[in-house]
Amino acid sequence: MCGIVGIVGNGPVAERLVDALKRLEYRGYDSAGVATLVDGRLDRRRAEGKLVNLEKRLAAEPLAGNIGIAHTRWATHGAPTEGNAHPHFVDGVAVVHNGIIENFSEIRDELTAEGRTFTTETDTEVVAQLLAKYRREGLGRREAMHAMLRRVTGAYALAVLFEDDPSTIMAARSGPPLAIGYGKGEMFLGSDAIALAPFTSEIAYLVDGDWAVIGRDGAFVFDIDGNRVDRPRQISSASAYLIDKGNHRHFMEKEIHEQPEAISHALGHYVDFLAHRVKPVAGGIDFAAVPSLAISACGTAYLAGLVGKYWFERYARLPVEIDVASEFRYREIPLNPASAALFISQSGETADTLASLRYCKEHGLKIGAVVNARESTIARESDAVFPILAGPEIGVASTKAFTCQLAVLAALSIGAGRARGTLTEAEEKHLVRHLAEMPRVMAGVLNTIQPAIEQLSRELSKCKDVLYLGRGTSYPLAMEGALKLKEISYIHAEGYAAGELKHGPIALIDENMPVIVIAPHDRFYEKTVSNMQEVAARGGRIILITDEKGAAASKLSTMATIVLPNVDEIIAPMIYSLPIQLLAYHTAVFMGTDVDQPRNLAKSVTVE
Ligand code: AGP
Repeated sequence: MCGIVGIVGNGPVAERLVDALKRLEYRGYDSAGVATLVDGRLDRRRAEGKLVNLEKRLAAEPLAGNIGIAHTRWATHGAPTEGNAHPHFVDGVAVVHNGIIENFSEIRDELTAEGRTFTTETDTEVVAQLLAKYRREGLGRREAMHAMLRRVTGAYALAVLFEDDPSTIMAARSGPPLAIGYGKGEMFLGSDAIALAPFTSEIAYLVDGDWAVIGRDGAFVFDIDGNRVDRPRQISSASAYLIDKGNHRHFMEKEIHEQPEAISHALGHYVDFLAHRVKPVAGGIDFAAVPSLAISACGTAYLAGLVGKYWFERYARLPVEIDVASEFRYREIPLNPASAALFISQSGETADTLASLRYCKEHGLKIGAVVNARESTIARESDAVFPILAGPEIGVASTKAFTCQLAVLAALSIGAGRARGTLTEAEEKHLVRHLAEMPRVMAGVLNTIQPAIEQLSRELSKCKDVLYLGRGTSYPLAMEGALKLKEISYIHAEGYAAGELKHGPIALIDENMPVIVIAPHDRFYEKTVSNMQEVAARGGRIILITDEKGAAASKLSTMATIVLPNVDEIIAPMIYSLPIQLLAYHTAVFMGTDVDQPRNLAKSVTVE
């Protein structure tokens, strides 16, 4: 998951390239670099770590040039050192790359046997080495590019500069996204529309197999066979304003507190607040006609899908087959071509989720995308797009996207229930009324639970292991709470079905491992109380997240009890997301980890 940009400019480009990289830093931040071509010579600056280090390097050693490429890296092959940072240079060729060249090792061996010397540990270097080889053998730039693309296999978004051509950048895409931006006497290239937004809103996405020659006045696009192709230009809605943190310490904190507003945007798109009905989904999936539903996603998006499974099965009586995208397509599930499949993805670029989508498409299913990025690859390859309207989510740990995904899935499952006749109009109105309460209830919770959460987080930051438990839709929430905590505080955490405690995890219970129990006073509450008693009987420390009824009913002594308002089951997952998000956030703050850009992670995982 890296970010790449390029500019064929009519003025200096180095600073503008770095500004564009800032908008792609969510894709990875292990190292960064920029290369330009000036007076027939390629030159570059690279730096390990965050983009600010590259900015310092450029301030100390400015880089001239009106044409250039740049890169922010999430390391796949080779440690995140300056030596492995892109752009890679080989004999007058500069390359930046997002993805994985799967046959790099074979090519490296072959070229090494021909006497070539490799200077990095990366897979990307083979691209530069191959281009240099073909140029040495007398191929022109286009022929060399075409020959290289027929030689490498894997996933790539590439930008290439040739030292002997100050007027064009070459680009290619197979997998990770790549867009061409059309300016006035200048042209741009970027991993997504967000990177290009300050330069132009007129963009064209390359599709898999495309490669392009980009000059100041336009671009020639070719397919893998070298035939000219035309990719339609569109006006991007990506914001030109660099998102800032406002008066928050981190993007994650800002995005947690944006949820009431974000949820109201999401609901407004799907719900008629006056009639308390779910709006018919235009041009979408006919849930009345499908015999079953498949759902596939990764990480937090998968856990949103898991909650959605409970709702589609309960309210629409639709059987749901769900799995994490990296497993889904390898199970060879007997898919029914008459069914539909939903793919949930904040970025809309997650490689595993995209691969699952394509797998289902090949099997004839109707494809729906529940996405935040409406111009993403997953959205573009779907029959129906269900936007979550969460606004840009910069923090790597997904928060407002998660609750907006849940809100959309809740609306879709209620709509499906009406379409299939498994929900009466009265039942629909009852559920929609509760959905409509969410922004107000969320704002109230965010305004009241912070002090207790911060106090508790101080304790949690001293722990090595934490167990989360939940039943029903609180079970995926237990897994989400564990994921949030581990990915930003680096504390080991697991989410478990509360009923599974006595089938193994109970062996872990002792006074050192807090057990966080997500237990609204719903139909599972009494059973979950028994689980808490099992924990208490073994000296375990309980953190209970419940509502006023649950707190009144609980006779257990706990390490802490977080009390939320009594809410209907349909909105409990969104409301109970708030304490688990805040718990993870404040614990990470106490631990001093990089909350918005945790180690080893990236916001968009565009490699399998
Ligand atoms: C969530 O906190 C994680 N950062 C990660 O699990 C994320 O949800 C996952 O990578 C899926 O991303 P997507 O929604 O963009 O597809």
